Amino acid sequence: MPFLVAELKPARDGLGEPHQNSVYAFSLKTPPQFLPASKGRGLLAVVEMKIAITGKGGVGKTTIAAGLSRAYARRGKKVIALDVDPSPNLITALGVGGEVPERKLIPLMERDSLIEERTGAPPEGYGLIFKLNPKVDDLLDKFGVQCKDGVKLLIVGRIRRGGQGCFCPANALARRLVDHLSGVADVLLLDMEAGVEHLGRGTTRKVEILLTVVEPSLRSIETAGRIKKLGEDLGITKIFGVINKYRDRENEFISTKLQKIGVPPIYSIPYEESVARAELKGVSVFDAEGGERILEKMTELSEVVERAASSG
Ligand SMILES: Nc1ncnc2c1ncn2[C@@H]1O[C@H](COP(=O)(O)OP(=O)(O)OP(=O)(O)O)[C@@H](O)[C@H]1O
Ligand SMILES: [Mg+2]
Repeated sequence: MPFLVAELKPARDGLGEPHQNSVYAFSLKTPPQFLPASKGRGLLAVVEMKIAITGKGGVGKTTIAAGLSRAYARRGKKVIALDVDPSPNLITALGVGGEVPERKLIPLMERDSLIEERTGAPPEGYGLIFKLNPKVDDLLDKFGVQCKDGVKLLIVGRIRRGGQGCFCPANALARRLVDHLSGVADVLLLDMEAGVEHLGRGTTRKVEILLTVVEPSLRSIETAGRIKKLGEDLGITKIFGVINKYRDRENEFISTKLQKIGVPPIYSIPYEESVARAELKGVSVFDAEGGERILEKMTELSEVVERAASSG
């Protein structure tokens, strides 16, 4: 038997909010399989999107996550950005107006007492019984950080892995939170590590998009190929490449490679000195000298992504 799950009630009907009654499960180091795959994930009149940004280390995921977030927010969308990186730094890339209270900087996944309070078990309580649908609707207000252009950021932190995934109280809280916020935002962006498997299947109506960022290196193309497979396993059909930091003729070379592995490149961003310089100063590139020009590129990217989301 690959895993044991005690399903006392269906967690949700696949479309709406979960039922009020708590759903419990025994935690094992394998992911639950009983949640229905997203039903009716068709298009809405206004395209609402959940965009996961992933790719090899250092390719520019955080820069692009921040730029896209600010571009969508400037275009009037309600944007929630989630930092799902073990070393969260999306806040710097996004830029904040003033002082941020220290307590808001602690990643949710490191708040052991919160995880226990909400799920009924400690974060990695393997073998224990815990709630699958913990209360999460107050977390954005409590821990969300207001960033530039009206982007709301939540620092989630490291999603645990183990075996084929990790089905533990901490991840149950994270998954429920992502699902809940998908229903709250027009655009939900996730700055991820080089993978998506640890987030599990989406269960909302949002159009799910996987952007894999690639720099001119064969290793980052290999990573894109691996991410594509992981994304497809989760039922994500809209998987695209974004080429970043290219110089001279590298763009064509990488484009051809990406086409070959079935990750169509939808946009390319050249290597920009101003981006690298802003990083050294520890400020958001979009507020630094030359930032508006980079933001224009991000706006173009946001339009391209939106068109890709609306296409059949
Ligand atoms: N188009 C660009 N031109 C020049 N430098 C860039 C560009 N995009 C990103 N960078 C720089 O590359 C470095 C890595 O960028 P970033 O932190 O966004 O990558 P990441 O994929 O999120 O990294 P990590 O895997 O560590 O989270 C940073 O120093 C950033 O300033
Ligand atoms: Mg990053």
